[in-house]
Amino acid sequence: MAETLLIGQLVRFDADPLVEGPAAARHDARGAVLIRDGKIADIGQADDLRARHTGAELVDHGQRLILPGFIDAHAHYPQTGIIASWGKRLIDWLNSYTFPEEMRFGDRAYAAEVARRYFDLTLANGTTTVASYCTIHPESVDAYFEQARARGLRALAGKTCMDRNAPDGLRDSAQAAYDDSKTLLHKWHGVDRLSYIITPRFSPTSTPGQLSALGALWAEHPDCLMQTHLSEQTDEIAWVKGLFPEARDYLDTYEAHGLLGAGGLYGHAIHLEPRELDRLREVGAALVHCPTSNTFIGSGLFDMGLAGGAIRVGLATDTGGGSSFSMLRTMAAAYEIGQLRGRALHPAQLIWLATEGSARALRIADKVGRIALGMEADLVVLDLGSTPAIEQRARRADTIWEALFPTIMMGDDRAIAEVRIAGRTVQAG
Ligand code: GUN
Ligand code: ZN
Repeated sequence: MAETLLIGQLVRFDADPLVEGPAAARHDARGAVLIRDGKIADIGQADDLRARHTGAELVDHGQRLILPGFIDAHAHYPQTGIIASWGKRLIDWLNSYTFPEEMRFGDRAYAAEVARRYFDLTLANGTTTVASYCTIHPESVDAYFEQARARGLRALAGKTCMDRNAPDGLRDSAQAAYDDSKTLLHKWHGVDRLSYIITPRFSPTSTPGQLSALGALWAEHPDCLMQTHLSEQTDEIAWVKGLFPEARDYLDTYEAHGLLGAGGLYGHAIHLEPRELDRLREVGAALVHCPTSNTFIGSGLFDMGLAGGAIRVGLATDTGGGSSFSMLRTMAAAYEIGQLRGRALHPAQLIWLATEGSARALRIADKVGRIALGMEADLVVLDLGSTPAIEQRARRADTIWEALFPTIMMGDDRAIAEVRIAGRTVQAG
């Protein structure tokens, strides 16, 4: 049986560091991970594992750090080509840049080309799993899943449903949203490592009828996740109030249509009211923090104090409202937003959010996001001195956290020394 023994520095977690603090993390300066049949089959000190597994192929990374692959809990792969578009806030940004680009994804060849480019970029940045929005076109969903499947990725996505307040060519209907989503769900959910997510874009672009139709579909498939946007910008919230005068708040527009539940992923969730927080806690929903997007589009400062309690919180790029494909850059932005809110997130907490935190939000933490026995061997190996600026700072470090923090704050794809998908190398730096 083919076995690979990866040697390097290891960081693992015994508990949630947002609850327990950095003591929840374990560091092995000379650790090892044994990969067998695409899974993690042994973990420990390098010398012990070498003695136990003499037949394994050895890959010695020296001082490099072995981590679970990064998990991006909210992205829009169709926005790859319009990332870093200047000067607009949410609603104008959607109308000026996003919708015209998303219109192109009815073209199967174009969708396939962007999906290919998108996964090249995310893998180069050490991201091994993404939960993405597609466009209203079923072709855009097929293109994403076909690319992910060809690369052996664990990936999640859904058709983005909209039946109002979007241009001609980018609207479906309540019935078409239900029918198309159902067909795609049956086609892709549970195939290899793929999962379908029911995806109403957000309340302003869905009629109550469409929200109800997707709520009904979710009730028929409670094992599926449901993803949408919630309370990202104050103008958006005011618009929702006007569109749904009977709703108690923004969350209620989902709740009233069967779109609030433990499998719900609510992106952004910055400007929440007390009732919304109570309900999210009660149902055990997940929030997704998208820090580069929140600063880039000017949305506001997410309250990371919500993490570590009843509400699961994942971390995400929100490409292309977010300004980077890199989860390192995303961790740095989460740190900066934390600082602006008076809370310095520890490097252990940032790494956890980008791995196990996102995995828990996506309900896949029994499969990926952790270095633990039996987990799928989706791994990233970081070079902690990938540029002169980082290297000169890391050289002074006394602890693994001091050595890692400059890579979190200043690192990019040059820090990604190796990426493994189910044990196989896909990217060598
Ligand atoms: N709200 C509704 N759609 C979008 C989107 O594509 N990006 C962001 N950031 N917010 C949204
Ligand atoms: Zn989004």
